[in-house]
Amino acid sequence: MFSFTQLALATIACVSGATAQYYSLSNSSYVYPNSTGFRLQHGFEVVLVQPYGYDGFRVRAWPYKPPTGDEVSFLYDPPIEGPEAGSAAHGMNYDTNTNGLSPIRLRNGNTVVQTYAAPVADNTTNVRLAFYRVEPNGSETLLTNEYAPLKSLNPRYYSWNGPGYMFSAAYSFATTPDEQIYGTGQQQDHLVNKKGNVIDLINFNTHIPTPMFMSSRGYGFVWNSAAEGEMEFGQLRNRFTSRTTTLVDYAITSAPQGDYDTLQRRLSAMTGRAPQPPDWSLGYLHSKLRYENQSEFIQLAQGFHDRNIPVSMLVIDYQSWVHQGDWGLDPALWPNVSYMAERVKELTGAEIMASLWPSVSDASDNYATMQMDGLLAATRSGPGTTDSWNGSYIRNIDSTNPKARAFLWSKLKYNYYDNGIKNFWIDQADGGNLGEGYQNNGQSAYIESIPYPFADALYHAGTQMSVGKLYPWAHQQAIEEGQRNATNTQPGSPCEYLSLSRSGYIGSQRFCSMIWSGDTTSVWETLSAQVASGLSAAATGWGWWTQDIGGFQADPSVAWSANIDNPLYRELYIRWQQWATFLPFMRNHGSRACDFQDAFTCDNEPWTYGANNTPTIISYIQLRYQLAPYLRAIFHRFSATGRMIMRPLYMDFSLTDPNINALTRNNSNVTTQQYMFGPRLLVTPVTLPGVSEWTVYLPQTSTAGQEKPWTYWWTNTTYAGGQSVTVPAPLEHVPVFHLGSRAEIMAGDVF
Ligand SMILES: *[C@@H]1O[C@H](CO)[C@@H](O)[C@H](O)[C@H]1NC(C)=O
Ligand SMILES: *[C@@H]1O[C@H](CO)[C@@H](O)[C@H](O)[C@H]1NC(C)=O
Ligand SMILES: *[C@@H]1O[C@H](CO)[C@@H](O)[C@H](O)[C@H]1NC(C)=O
Ligand SMILES: *[C@@H]1O[C@H](CO)[C@@H](O)[C@H](O)[C@H]1NC(C)=O
Ligand SMILES: *[C@@H]1O[C@H](CO)[C@@H](O)[C@H](O)[C@H]1NC(C)=O
Ligand SMILES: *[C@@H]1O[C@H](CO)[C@@H](O)[C@H](O)[C@H]1NC(C)=O
Ligand SMILES: *[C@@H]1O[C@H](CO)[C@@H](O)[C@H](O)[C@H]1NC(C)=O
Ligand SMILES: *[C@@H]1O[C@H](CO)[C@@H](O)[C@H](O)[C@H]1NC(C)=O
Ligand SMILES: *[C@@H]1O[C@H](CO)[C@@H](O)[C@H](O)[C@H]1NC(C)=O
Ligand SMILES: *[C@@H]1O[C@H](CO)[C@@H](O)[C@H](O)[C@H]1NC(C)=O
Ligand SMILES: *[C@@H]1O[C@H](CO)[C@@H](O)[C@H](O)[C@H]1NC(C)=O
Repeated sequence: MFSFTQLALATIACVSGATAQYYSLSNSSYVYPNSTGFRLQHGFEVVLVQPYGYDGFRVRAWPYKPPTGDEVSFLYDPPIEGPEAGSAAHGMNYDTNTNGLSPIRLRNGNTVVQTYAAPVADNTTNVRLAFYRVEPNGSETLLTNEYAPLKSLNPRYYSWNGPGYMFSAAYSFATTPDEQIYGTGQQQDHLVNKKGNVIDLINFNTHIPTPMFMSSRGYGFVWNSAAEGEMEFGQLRNRFTSRTTTLVDYAITSAPQGDYDTLQRRLSAMTGRAPQPPDWSLGYLHSKLRYENQSEFIQLAQGFHDRNIPVSMLVIDYQSWVHQGDWGLDPALWPNVSYMAERVKELTGAEIMASLWPSVSDASDNYATMQMDGLLAATRSGPGTTDSWNGSYIRNIDSTNPKARAFLWSKLKYNYYDNGIKNFWIDQADGGNLGEGYQNNGQSAYIESIPYPFADALYHAGTQMSVGKLYPWAHQQAIEEGQRNATNTQPGSPCEYLSLSRSGYIGSQRFCSMIWSGDTTSVWETLSAQVASGLSAAATGWGWWTQDIGGFQADPSVAWSANIDNPLYRELYIRWQQWATFLPFMRNHGSRACDFQDAFTCDNEPWTYGANNTPTIISYIQLRYQLAPYLRAIFHRFSATGRMIMRPLYMDFSLTDPNINALTRNNSNVTTQQYMFGPRLLVTPVTLPGVSEWTVYLPQTSTAGQEKPWTYWWTNTTYAGGQSVTVPAPLEHVPVFHLGSRAEIMAGDVF
């Protein structure tokens, strides 16, 4: 029934010491499902349950109308790995029909799904699903089950709020107060454990809520819906709501408790594996808001060249075009793009990235064509003006339409790519409007503050409410398809070029695309929040995460914020920059203030933070290049198996250090501020001003007496795990500890 060809994968992982082991799969020990699935008819409702990937199940459900097959999905069918990988898609296959009155049980690997009839009244039952993990000793642990205490709302709850068939679905699953929830995309909440949180499934600048999580109980969950809605992580109930949809679709997979690498492997087999990034992108990526013209940009490259500072990418920000939606540079300011790209290459070797916005002004040459060909998003109530920017009303390109993606790429190719600018920055494309929590972006504060509801935009694929979560993802897809077409490479193969996106969604890691944490503020508290944001992004499967060194913009309530001439901001900038050396991508960007302005906008180059600080800033850029072999290795692992790059402490130490679970549960700053960067580096940025030492918790790396010592990067002092230590942390030193020798790390040895 299934192809067994994909099973030689048990050997990939071997992690000494600090972390959990992949549990081995072999043809003889893996328990293959004996069924392609069961279809449970329950009144007007149908629930289809299929084995999916290793140890997983996919569940789809609908009232009345079966799906058409056109529904938006972020899950691979078949998954990349699993008993069925390489064979035909599952589609809607099943071999068993049931009305649920007699319980049905299906096992796939070590995960079991079982129906049970829950009593809801005298002689009345309601058929529900429960998921278990089979333990090595044969016992079964309940992972979760559809939650509905006696006489409560049905756990699979549908309601029809509008005139059409589309319904709202709210699914409830049982949880316990001690369950910890990791992932859920990116918020700005300082949390690694999301237990207790209620999160709107609505995108906006700095928020990328994504209904995917790993549980401390040892399972992973994906709510495969493009709809807006909510996720709630209560004491007894986790609930996922899609506001408007035609289908419920989710997947669940399990691994031994504490084995987060296997969970990431399973989840990424369902949602996407990252390609290998281009080598150049592992260096220093430089940007500011904004270099205004060609001569200034070449001057910038000259500046790096003359100071002998390595740089791998220089970025052209927004308003470099004449009209929004031109998707080309303003020729008055950028007269000879190919010449510029060549000069930049000669001077620095750097790639160039240019910003694109989704917005199209009717003054753009592209407007009429796009309007005529139906490539612009509309709104449910009118022509589709969803926002305004800098005095012009705009409509957004409908990236959910493949023709619109091809149109966008054709302009980018002609105007940029063919002239040597091959990397693209997807800005403001969070969906609906221009991606802020308000509308009339770029107008006066008074207009911004009007609490408009988000526009319910109308796309090729549906409404904002029903498929809005697809919108930024489809932008990443547009650039991916374009770059793949232009470089004649296949999806999944190593990337030559990249995009950078402010948003993303389930499986965004499959694209040659980085996600950054959005327009953050330049204050200490925001620096600290970014660490937890990155760790949640990691648990959501996004390894290619980055953020703006120094924060994006001034916090208006803090006088020194983002002012490059102010010593208070300089200190923050240096702490931020040294930290970013140990992120998947080291990217400097921001809108700066200054006391002395010598360019169109204030400076943000490594040499503009005071002569006494320049050597420190440059030393971290150089260290970044020295780390290249290590970076390459951890990206390679991520690509091969989904093994995460930024690693919250629970990923490596929940089984070896009895404190880690409790610390994570409380969102102690140990777990929201410290992480492993690859298997060997423990990183703990300084997130307070005026600090000369820093207290760090060093996890215990083994319970079996094979404890590895931690070495402090700056002194070579070694420490045993399982204790807090206070180490010197002068301004020029980011607290980093390592396992094993520094020579091994520099050689790219990742165990
Ligand atoms: C699993 O079975 C396939 C097909 O019989 C065989 O080629 C492969 O070597 C087996 N793998 C393991 C790990 O036993
Ligand atoms: C699979 O095995 C279980 C347990 O032996 C059995 O109850 C069930 O009927 C089988 N299903 C199919 C489709 O053969
Ligand atoms: C419930 O079902 C049982 C067995 O069929 C029957 O004896 C009993 O009277 C029923 N109770 C009610 C309240 O219908
Ligand atoms: C079997 O293993 C589970 C999980 O490790 C454990 O909780 C349970 O106590 C074990 N049962 C027996 C009978 O050893
Ligand atoms: C761009 O610059 C190159 C090199 O100086 C020159 O050969 C070319 O003619 C220029 N193109 C335009 C359109 O000015
Ligand atoms: C609006 O756009 C014009 C032209 O690009 C630019 O000069 C001006 O600074 C912009 N204004 C704002 C508020 O961004
Ligand atoms: C890439 O090429 C394919 C095949 O020619 C085409 O269908 C698709 O529209 C192209 N994608 C983009 C974004 O240009
Ligand atoms: C380009 O920008 C620089 C720096 O802001 C400015 O001095 C120069 O006048 C600009 N040149 C053009 C042609 O706009
Ligand atoms: C942290 O967690 C531990 C163990 O779960 C608990 O005993 C303790 O009270 C918590 N501390 C705080 C501050 O919540
Ligand atoms: C946690 O907070 C305490 C008190 O502010 C501080 O001393 C310590 O260094 C912080 N630890 C981390 C890892 O941020
Ligand atoms: C620590 O060891 C490294 C080599 O692993 C060496 O380069 C460095 O100079 C040492 N630092 C100190 C302070 O001894």
